[in-house]
Amino acid sequence: MYELFPYFTNDGSVGLYSPKDDDIYHSTYGALSEAYEKFILPANLNEFLKTHNEIKILDICFGIGYNSKSFLNYFFENFDKKLSALNTTIDTIGTDNKLNKIFIKAVDTDKNLMFLSPFIKSENKNIFNNKINFSHEKISKLLKKRTKPKYKLKKFINMIFLKKIIKNHPEIFDDSEFNLILKSKKYRQFLDADICRLYAFYKNRGYVYTPLRRLSAFLHNIYYRYISTSYKKAAKYLKLVDFIFEGEIGDARKIILDDNNTYNFIFLDAFTPAKCPCLWTVDFFKELHKHLDDNGMILTYSNSAAVRNAFIQAGFWTGKIYNKENDKFMGTIAAKKLELIKFGLSEYDLGLIKTKAGIVYRDKDLSLDNRAIIMAHDKEVATSTLISSSKFIKTFRGSN
Ligand SMILES: C[S@@+](CC[C@H](N)C(=O)[O-])C[C@H]1O[C@@H](n2cnc3c(N)ncnc32)[C@H](O)[C@@H]1O
Repeated sequence: MYELFPYFTNDGSVGLYSPKDDDIYHSTYGALSEAYEKFILPANLNEFLKTHNEIKILDICFGIGYNSKSFLNYFFENFDKKLSALNTTIDTIGTDNKLNKIFIKAVDTDKNLMFLSPFIKSENKNIFNNKINFSHEKISKLLKKRTKPKYKLKKFINMIFLKKIIKNHPEIFDDSEFNLILKSKKYRQFLDADICRLYAFYKNRGYVYTPLRRLSAFLHNIYYRYISTSYKKAAKYLKLVDFIFEGEIGDARKIILDDNNTYNFIFLDAFTPAKCPCLWTVDFFKELHKHLDDNGMILTYSNSAAVRNAFIQAGFWTGKIYNKENDKFMGTIAAKKLELIKFGLSEYDLGLIKTKAGIVYRDKDLSLDNRAIIMAHDKEVATSTLISSSKFIKTFRGSN
């Protein structure tokens, strides 16, 4: 039976744990904060949007959608500034001329997570957060006593995603496994009740895809006026933005092979290389290289030497993500142009890449399963004449 292991992370957004992989989907620090700080803020989107009206994003490992949702939220947060530069407001612009075009392709193997993404609560303020519904000592230890939101998702972001997911996957209404998840009391506290009501409304009345602004009139008199207010807001924004969302369920390796798009930003949020090496191989990165715009960038949370080396071997300039909030380097950025890399790899990072820790994962035909990739990698590490990372670290520290 399909089961989820949700809990509230320290910023009040919902995080998931996977017992099968013994890995977390989201940092206990905050699922939403992590999306903002590792993917959205380092992408320098404001700069990009000053000179581009169109943006294409590939969200690899969409899960419950924090990265795409945070992007859209950030975009709308900054949209008002764009309007004031045009000397107008959202209420007065009154035109159907689209000011921006957004295309997001989101990919995940887990259908239930993609379907569930609009339902997930992104904020639970100031709750006691020292209990989880499953046993995991490490997660329990990392949870603080009270949740403290750092970022806020606009209410209508989930509504927009619900509409897009329904449009992409009308089978959602008949999917018994998914509908059981929605009905389960176990998960109720983690789901947004308004979105659940809206979904039930669509399910009962029959969903017809209409532009949001027509739908807002349609919803006007229904009992949850609150939703209708949020809808109106979304409708106003979407009047000015052409937002296309393609949520694909399947292996990212296969989906990318059939994809003809080039992207301005690629978010890579797979489980760690030790758990899901198939999305960190030099061969997969070579494929991503073909799908990245010349001025585009790939962002990922991973600091692994093997991942950074794979980016370099796949032909990317590779650097680090600097987190202003915490004054720390976290994650990796890969681009086709050197000038897009603001924080290059240090002497230490480059040294580490030349050790056994930097040996890349391989998957020549993008078809091996994770176990086979790990076995081949372990063998290459065992027979390699490179120095070990621990020896390198000792020598490096000694000489510095
Ligand atoms: C760390 S989680 C991503 C969290 C996500 N970004 C979010 O906001 O919820 C990793 C995700 O990778 C997905 N996944 C695992 N193998 C995959 C593959 N080969 N192709 C696409 N997605 C995959 C899992 O289903 C899981 O949702």
